[in-house]
Amino acid sequence: MPHTLKDVLPATARLRDDGHLEVGGCDLVELATEHGTPMYVFCTETFRRQARRYREAFPAPDRVYFAAKAFTSVAAFRIAVEEGLGVDVASGGELYVALKAGVPPESIIVHGNNKSDAELEMAVASSVGRIAVDSLDELERLARIAEAAGVRQTIVLRVTPGVEAHTHEYIQTGQEDTKFGMSIESGAALEAAKRAADLPSVELVGAHAHIGSQIFGSEAFGKLVEIMFEFLSAVREAVGLSLTDLNLGGGLGIAYTKEEAPADVVAHGAFVRQSVAREAGRLGLAVPILSVEPGRSIVGNSMLTLYRVGVVKEIPGVRTYVSVDGGMSDNIRPMLYGARYSALLANKANEASDKVVTVAGSHCESGDVLLRDVALPSSVGRGDLLAILATGAYGYAMASNYNKMPRPPVVAVADGAARTVIRRETYEDLIRLDLV
Ligand code: LLP
Repeated sequence: MPHTLKDVLPATARLRDDGHLEVGGCDLVELATEHGTPMYVFCTETFRRQARRYREAFPAPDRVYFAAKAFTSVAAFRIAVEEGLGVDVASGGELYVALKAGVPPESIIVHGNNKSDAELEMAVASSVGRIAVDSLDELERLARIAEAAGVRQTIVLRVTPGVEAHTHEYIQTGQEDTKFGMSIESGAALEAAKRAADLPSVELVGAHAHIGSQIFGSEAFGKLVEIMFEFLSAVREAVGLSLTDLNLGGGLGIAYTKEEAPADVVAHGAFVRQSVAREAGRLGLAVPILSVEPGRSIVGNSMLTLYRVGVVKEIPGVRTYVSVDGGMSDNIRPMLYGARYSALLANKANEASDKVVTVAGSHCESGDVLLRDVALPSSVGRGDLLAILATGAYGYAMASNYNKMPRPPVVAVADGAARTVIRRETYEDLIRLDLV
């Protein structure tokens, strides 16, 4: 097993003497035989470690919410709660799963740029801790819904700070062109704060922003803190409200390949808290309670996907296609975002990767390519077990039944034991919604 993949693999990954890869104390070759392929392997220890790193970086009273959208599942939410995290949900469906998983409603924050009345009613009725209000329209509707329910709903305002970050760079866009939040620059966010202060059925306690995903450095967050503090200061002056909650969203990046250096969560936390202390001092404001909403950086490296190799087609002078038994239905990210992953053969993890191939899925579509030009052992052939690494974030969550492929199971591994936490779909499942 290439040592250089250490940051990409789950924390418990180990190369066995027989050349098999082991995760959570379980031999992946045995797991695949028992559960079939494709399958997602979920190393709960990696998830827990990352959650703990976040708690260390942002200790109470700061809050860490796991971003449900990255891996929406009862199992993940339960572990998140055990590790002292709340959950950020972005739809009625995600809220439903969080409540069913037993996430305490007070540690749920509800997002969405177009929340329906039904979703707002559901959030209010289930006593969620925070609703991130995204527009003036939503504020008015929520106020009516909360009033009718006889509730004073705690809210934060989702604002547009004009900072957009992508991987290594961030840009200050000024007036941002986005469907999310209310602009600080145009004054829309301040208007909403004024209006919220007049509405007895909502209690405005803070501001929220999310600047992007797969971000490597902390600088963009430093810039965000500065802008958010300007806003908190403007609210204090114009509205007379001291906002105590500052939510900086998610976005820290992870290593998908050995070339990428993952952010150190604890160092990032220290940087953010320093920026906050500095800005609070500069503007004479109290240090707010911080919240963060990591998704990818908690669950990303905790999972890998196992596929069985089928047809290997060598097109002389062109490329070698290695086809596997899944594809765009279990991982749409390469096709949707051009995302790149690392792979290895879990049954031959001790062999050198000396042949460049292209890994394709089994879908009836030429774009169904999981990995372009990736090195695998030259002995790769039918029956081998291909592992694509770091598929935990937005992998299962974005899976579909395209071509009526049943979605694979998610099998949690820890301390040598495996437990199916999401079962494989059956062909029967595929017609459960068809009314005939
Ligand atoms: N909070 C809010 C309000 C968000 O919109 C998001 C992600 C997060 C937290 C979590 O961000 P993370 O820590 O995971 O970067 N499907 C895309 C990612 C979309 C992220 C959308 N919002 C992908 O597969 O890369």
